[in-house]
Amino acid sequence: MQISVIGCGYLGAVHAACMAKLGHDVVGIDVDERKIADLAAGKAPFFEPGLEELLLEVQATGRLTFTTDMSAAQGSTVHFVCVGTPQKKGENAADMTYVDAATQALLPYLSAGDVVVGKSTVPVGTAARLAELVLQQEPKAHLAWNPEFLREGHAVKDTLTPDRFVYGVHEGSEDHAAVAALDEVYSTPLGMGTRRLVADYATAELVKAAANSFLATKISFINAMAEVCEAAGADVTVLADAIGLDDRIGRKFLNAGIGFGGGCLPKDIRAFMARAGELGADQALTFLREVDAINMRRRTRTVELTRELCGGVLMGQRITVLGAAFKPDSDDVRDSPALSIAAQLQLQGAVVTVTDPESLGNAARRFPELNYEANTEEALRNADAVLLLTEWKEYRHLDPHETRDLVGNARILDGRNALDPQKWRAAGWTYRGVGRP
Ligand code: UGA
Repeated sequence: MQISVIGCGYLGAVHAACMAKLGHDVVGIDVDERKIADLAAGKAPFFEPGLEELLLEVQATGRLTFTTDMSAAQGSTVHFVCVGTPQKKGENAADMTYVDAATQALLPYLSAGDVVVGKSTVPVGTAARLAELVLQQEPKAHLAWNPEFLREGHAVKDTLTPDRFVYGVHEGSEDHAAVAALDEVYSTPLGMGTRRLVADYATAELVKAAANSFLATKISFINAMAEVCEAAGADVTVLADAIGLDDRIGRKFLNAGIGFGGGCLPKDIRAFMARAGELGADQALTFLREVDAINMRRRTRTVELTRELCGGVLMGQRITVLGAAFKPDSDDVRDSPALSIAAQLQLQGAVVTVTDPESLGNAARRFPELNYEANTEEALRNADAVLLLTEWKEYRHLDPHETRDLVGNARILDGRNALDPQKWRAAGWTYRGVGRP
């Protein structure tokens, strides 16, 4: 199929490459000239395992091109809208500027039979509104909403072999032309047994908001349990293993720690609350306010634990923060709890050095006042306290004996419960975890 992908950020760049991998002819379009130049040269503008290799592989086949010229969308039959919906400044709601602008810019290039497919995470009601615009421009074109569930760090696999596809079409009708078009786009994963559900626009939009809200709730639930475990002298990691064995609950996303961050969960639960308020259903989602509050409390709690670990004073303490990205295998520092904690410690007088395998450039642009050191050993040298805040594999596998020889004071705060406390204590460390004795 001939496919255009509008917006080549995290979602769009991965989607374009994966659609070409599935055998389609794809043009990726973005207004950002630098991003397009990078992608056209086979360079991923962000760190995502496997993406660069995939870009080079599919570009060699000639099936994937990139441009800043929207007219290149003409001739494609399916147009994926993959632009961002960040949080509005000073408000909880989603900023729809990019989705609206991208759709408007695409309209003149639509032909009869084309399908515009929204993938961005949007407030419920957006698809119905955009469908009107599409129909006004080209009465024989269609609009579908096909939310994306990819996780950063697993984006290629999640796009090529997702858990499920959700197609939102007018009135949720199976016979809709957009359903047939999307079935053709995804024929390979569908052939491998991936489930697909057809829904009306509102349901498809809500599936995404509900999924991210559930994940955020699961994380905040276990972090709330960590607070209780700390007060009671219990161990949240054992508690999570035990409740996780109940398959109605499940062990995934029950890792207590410094909380969730990134470009999705925090802003998505806030936008969901804002939209529910507009719809008069705000009471239904007041629990998400608590989910958000528990999550933000992890950050202040970690600062306090660090102060305790340093004998009650942060002023002048040399603190090494292992990990700046919001999660491992990503260079994304948007709303990263690790960086936010590092910045708060620095504000309170600590001398903070941050290290991370991939995200130091992004981190330094966000918080130029922090010290950054790419070499882990150098970052650890003479530290008064070490904070493991993003559980990259290299930090999980640090040797407590070798690490002890580098630091000034052998104190560690394991913000992700990623280390073996016994091993670290046996090597002479003062070890603190989250919600464990
Ligand atoms: C999330 C969802 O998992 C995806 O399904 C969704 O498509 C995506 O948002 C999106 O809306 O685009 P992502 O932001 O890449 O994906 O990251 P997650 O793997 O969900 O992790 C989010 C945060 O939760 C990270 O900061 C992570 O460290 C934290 N987390 C995760 C925990 O603190 N504990 C856990 O047990 C799991």
